[in-house]
Amino acid sequence: METILVTGGAGFIGSNFIKHILQEHPDSYIVNLDLLTYAGNLENLKEIENNENYTFIKGDIRDRELVDNIFSEFRIKKVVHFAAESHVDRSIEDPEIFLSTNILGTQVLLDAAKKHWKINPDDKYCDEYIDNVKYLQVSTDEVYGALGKEGKFSEDLPLLPNSPYSASKASADLIVRAYHKTFGLPINITRCSNNYGPYQFPEKLIPLMIINCIKDKELPVYGDGMQIRDWLHVKDHCSAIETVLYKGRIGEIYNIGGNNEKANIEIVQLIISTLGKSNNLIKYVKDRPGHDRRYAIDNTKITTELGWKPSYTFEQGMKETIEWYLNNTEWINNIISNDYMKYYEKMYSGI
Ligand code: NAD
Ligand code: DAU
Repeated sequence: METILVTGGAGFIGSNFIKHILQEHPDSYIVNLDLLTYAGNLENLKEIENNENYTFIKGDIRDRELVDNIFSEFRIKKVVHFAAESHVDRSIEDPEIFLSTNILGTQVLLDAAKKHWKINPDDKYCDEYIDNVKYLQVSTDEVYGALGKEGKFSEDLPLLPNSPYSASKASADLIVRAYHKTFGLPINITRCSNNYGPYQFPEKLIPLMIINCIKDKELPVYGDGMQIRDWLHVKDHCSAIETVLYKGRIGEIYNIGGNNEKANIEIVQLIISTLGKSNNLIKYVKDRPGHDRRYAIDNTKITTELGWKPSYTFEQGMKETIEWYLNNTEWINNIISNDYMKYYEKMYSGI
């Protein structure tokens, strides 16, 4: 049985990924290391919490001793690294935790992999050769910066991140690359576009708009609402990461996206009309500083080389997502904690 260390598995994408892997690879064992920050939620994993091939460990990826012990005790063969501070607006408010978690946390995991995996026969760091190991860094299309009206992000573009969040993710990518080039660590980096789907924390555009709309609250659209994002259902992101984990060529970067560009205002209007509410709920608010205008993924490499393709249409994915939020009011109410409300009161006060 192969043990996979999933970091950040109590978050939005990580929790969807763990369920996906336990279903598709019942011969795998998953260790989920998550600090349970405001974004981590064990409710997301209720249906698999008693699975005999699954263990949850509450802890910090920056804790070297803990990470080292996990590698020894569970004989980790693969790492899928999701854990991060993930919200751009929060990184503008307070960048430091982004640099600490996203950059230094990544280095701790890389050091543990380097220590515990015998990369080549004369590796002086460890004595036992473990076959078939891989470290997969879950990155983001935001590392490429912003696009104008034309063009798409391909893997060979320079990294030009614009927010503290994307700068921290780009830094981590470069360290992962350096551990591959310098120490021969077997790695892949995936760079996905915006995800949506069940269990997304309601600070991000789609769940925030769905929940506010259900509750007849204002829908805060930044700037002119014409910024473009390239949306992918979280389950398609999970299947793409699975594909790269098992089939990706060592050392390679793979972009992930489903050719689905939408302006923010289109998404908000779709949510309003699906829920039968009024456009009067829309409130144009102050723009995000340094707001990236457009993202779009060129997915040629992962589709042609690895044969991955998305399965959801945006219409079907959004219909199911809106239904999921309508049917999971308890999950929503538990999440809307005092901390969350305080953050949003501060963000939107005086607008
Ligand atoms: P999320 O904010 O929902 O979840 C992050 C998880 O990481 C939480 O469970 C949190 O508790 C955990 N975490 C944070 N700091 C930690 C630490 N120091 N130690 C251990 N655990 C810690 O994030 P998400 O949206 O699921 O994103 C997951 C990953 O995917 C991130 O690396 C993000 O950059 C990347 N990504 C996200 C998207 C998207 O649209 N959401 C798109 C592309 C890439
Ligand atoms: O592209 C991948 C990235 O997508 C991930 O790496 C990030 O972790 C993830 O948070 C996401 O970043 P964005 O900044 O694109 O997502 P967000 O949901 O915060 O915003 C999407 C767009 O909607 C963006 O143009 C800002 C706008 N927006 C967002 C919020 C929360 C609004 O207009 N109003 C809002 O209230």
